[in-house]
Amino acid sequence: MEKVDVKGVKLFAPASIANISCGFDVLGLCLENIGDLMEIRRSEKAGIHITSIKGQDLPLEAEKNVAGVAGLAMLEAYNPQLGFEIRIEKNIKPGSGIGSSAASAAGTVAGINYLLGNPFTNKELIPFAMEGERLACGSAHADNVAPALLGGFTLVRDTNPLDICALPTPLELVATVIHPKIEVKTADARAVLKKRVTLEKAISQWGNVGALVSSLYEEDYDLLSRSLVDGIVEPARSILIPYFKELKAACKEGGALGSGISGSGPSVFALSRGMSTANKVAQAMQSVLEETNIPFDIHVSPVKKTGVSFIEDLLT
Ligand code: HSE
Repeated sequence: MEKVDVKGVKLFAPASIANISCGFDVLGLCLENIGDLMEIRRSEKAGIHITSIKGQDLPLEAEKNVAGVAGLAMLEAYNPQLGFEIRIEKNIKPGSGIGSSAASAAGTVAGINYLLGNPFTNKELIPFAMEGERLACGSAHADNVAPALLGGFTLVRDTNPLDICALPTPLELVATVIHPKIEVKTADARAVLKKRVTLEKAISQWGNVGALVSSLYEEDYDLLSRSLVDGIVEPARSILIPYFKELKAACKEGGALGSGISGSGPSVFALSRGMSTANKVAQAMQSVLEETNIPFDIHVSPVKKTGVSFIEDLLT
């Protein structure tokens, strides 16, 4: 039922790790400790109105902003006469590789849906949020917006028509993400990819994707570790990431199950069994970049079981 007495909602829009090594454009996971804060309020004026963005210099015009475009796509499908106001506190840096645009797009559509009394399921919101991704990088991929809306691990079986599978999350899994503060635009990171792959590489890649999915169901950490391999995208993109080899070696030394490029980079992620190993991995990754002049952020986060979370109803 529509929440008519509620003027707005404050929410947490989570960051996410796309690809997870072997699953380019199909696998993703949701992060618990990193995300944007957003307020979505009803407005008398039809359309989407972004009134403030804290923390980043991003366009306020709805048509030029991923949150605006996602919200407009949703209103177009539901009722173009409605209006909503959006405030964003951006904690996820655009171009960092942990789903900054996806978080804003997912937060917007989830917030509007909440205020309307949930006419759409979370899965049905994904195509609207994907329009934000199309604006951000020219490709409407779903591997960040799906985990940001559904939580946990997700697999995009197809985008036309959209077919998303929600996957289980092994309880002890913790992610470590280091963000070297250089910007790698997703469009550029996609441009370096070859359009063709050899059958040999394809066989190895789909073997790993299948095994990774199985490892999540079976909570088989050794199999998960063996599956975190990417013979197609990582070799092409790693040249865009300073000290990538050293960071991967550090993750291994720290005891991670595996590591790779987070989304389109430049962030590098590792998955570990347990918080204490994930913290050791963070130390090891950190010591690599401390010896350089590259500033960085580092995060340790469990996998978030649900997507966008609602913090409080705004009654005034
Ligand atoms: N799958 C996308 C890519 C994610 O790697 O280009 C971008 O965030």
